[in-house]
Amino acid sequence: MRYNVRMPKKKQFQLTKPIHHVAFIMDGNGRWAKLRGLPRHLGHHEACNRIIEIFEVCRKFNIRVMSFYAFSTENWNRPQDEIDHLMDYLEEFFNKEIDYLCSVGARLMISGDLSRIREQTRKVCYDALERTKNNDSWILNVCLNYGGRDEIVRATKAIAQEVVDGKLKIEDIDEALFANHLYTAGLPDIDLMIRTSGEQRLSNYLLYQNAYSEFVFTPVKWPDFKEKAFVDCLEEFQSRNRRFGGLKNE
Ligand code: IPE
Ligand code: IPE
Ligand code: MG
Repeated sequence: MRYNVRMPKKKQFQLTKPIHHVAFIMDGNGRWAKLRGLPRHLGHHEACNRIIEIFEVCRKFNIRVMSFYAFSTENWNRPQDEIDHLMDYLEEFFNKEIDYLCSVGARLMISGDLSRIREQTRKVCYDALERTKNNDSWILNVCLNYGGRDEIVRATKAIAQEVVDGKLKIEDIDEALFANHLYTAGLPDIDLMIRTSGEQRLSNYLLYQNAYSEFVFTPVKWPDFKEKAFVDCLEEFQSRNRRFGGLKNE
């Protein structure tokens, strides 16, 4: 006999600690595909669908800024065929979602060196940047051909050049000025950094910006990373005690 016991509904999760910026390392696409007997690139295709879904969850929790690691400076070491597919899918993502992003007031940002990205993808990126440039409700920062070390070296060179040109004095260089020379200039520091797929490393991601973020590593592979898995990460974040070098704050 089955008892008809009504289980108490799990209380809806409320985010009470503010998150100004959440960053994702969208990892595990290849393994997700392999587990299903599919070619790796279909994992990347499925991965793109999660970006907009996770964007929606961020909106629900009023998280204004999101960074997504789409392609690292080291990902050029992959077979050309996989890189081509990745670029195809990124183009498809931008073409498909840009109207929607505009309709909800989202601005697209791209962090990374677009000069090495093939021309047709670069063009789609520039179009998307142009079309969303006046939006300010949400910021979707896509890290493309991005490397944290590369970004820091570029910022250092740009600052050095300003000193050489007499536009800047060495004593004016501080953390805020340095941050303003990074791709992410103007964005708040990262509060929460999530990596999917069980790997526990930064892989050259937002090295400067992650100085005091909380790291959450989930075994869920990015193509499976839906609202429930994300909310689990938010709950984990909420249980953390952020001290910023000070004393326990509870
Ligand atoms: C992340 O998934 C996407 C990119 C790095 C572009 P992977 O392609 O790294 O998937 P795994 O880690 O091999 O499973
Ligand atoms: C990091 O994932 C880069 C992106 C998610 C775009 P990788 O799969 O390239 O990182 P490693 O090689 O496992 O460190
Ligand atoms: Mg990987």
